[in-house]
Amino acid sequence: MPPRPNQLKRVLSGMRPTGKLHLGNFVGALDNWVRMQDQYECFFCVADWHALTTDYADTSKLKSNSMEVMLDWLAAGLDPERCPMFIQSHVPQHAELHLLFSMITPLGWLERVPTYKEQRENITEKDLGTYGFLGYPVLQSADILIYQADFVPVGEDQVPHVELTREIARRFNMFYTRKNTSVFPEPQPLLTPAAKLPGTDGRKMSKSYGNTILMTDPEPMVRQKLKTMVTDPARVRRTDPGNPDVCPVGDLHKIFSDRETIAKVNEGCRSAGIGCIECKGWAADSLVSILNPMQERRKKYEDNPRLAWDILEAGAARAKKVASATLEEVREAMGTSLDYEPPRNS
Ligand code: TRP
Ligand code: SF4
Repeated sequence: MPPRPNQLKRVLSGMRPTGKLHLGNFVGALDNWVRMQDQYECFFCVADWHALTTDYADTSKLKSNSMEVMLDWLAAGLDPERCPMFIQSHVPQHAELHLLFSMITPLGWLERVPTYKEQRENITEKDLGTYGFLGYPVLQSADILIYQADFVPVGEDQVPHVELTREIARRFNMFYTRKNTSVFPEPQPLLTPAAKLPGTDGRKMSKSYGNTILMTDPEPMVRQKLKTMVTDPARVRRTDPGNPDVCPVGDLHKIFSDRETIAKVNEGCRSAGIGCIECKGWAADSLVSILNPMQERRKKYEDNPRLAWDILEAGAARAKKVASATLEEVREAMGTSLDYEPPRNS
């Protein structure tokens, strides 16, 4: 690896384009990414090819979903000046590295990946017995290593993918080290301190449960969703004391409300001094005050879609520069470089 011009360590992260993001995506990842921009050189990738590994049969939403994700990133405060944001398929270099990694990745490594086993068992409505789906983590390794990233911010479920990335890097370096320098670093996962965010039904907030609050939900929608949110089941009547520690609304307060509000909730709930309707109103206030500035930022790009496309184009161009330089090192190490070598006189 050539030395970097700035001294910052490099971070790469990505998301599959699932459409509009919800508050679970925000507290589970995005909020953390926004903070990381100050400490690292960050690259953020909308992994549209990864979406294809499961949703290959219907690609009608792929482009709009990628755009929605990107708009939510901008809304949350990712700064395109500092961090290239791009769509994976706009940087085809990822595919070349994926192909080369596929040559050296033992099948057994892929069959053992926990997400692979789980999804093969749990997802029955799609045929996941494809080459591409088995290779999902190899593609992810290419995403990460093509930027020679030092760190990968991920949730718990993705840690095995980063571990596999380290193993692929190690194997590549072992086979193809030239002049005693390794092409790839072994990137480390940066575990996102996961505040578990409950959805409106009290289960983990997730698109597949239909219990989400979207980053784009307007105020009346947020208030409506909170009204129907489940509460401490032991608090049946207004006069029953409750416990915010076992209440999903209490969890929302802990994540989004200020200290005074949390203290008021604690006191009022345990003494039956406040009602759940009032308490939910305060939770809605906290959410709205966090969502408002994000929605304003998003609107700027929605009103002027050209702006967002320009950001993606510029992001892809910056990403390509780094990716091509890595591939040049890879080709050199593997001996497929196109560089002309003059014949040696013997
Ligand atoms: N597999 C990741 C997920 O499902 C998304 C992803 C694709 C990713 N490429 C990445 C995450 C590279 C981190 C780094 O969440
Ligand atoms: Fe939950 Fe608030 Fe009702 Fe207590 S008062 S049970 S924290 S909604």
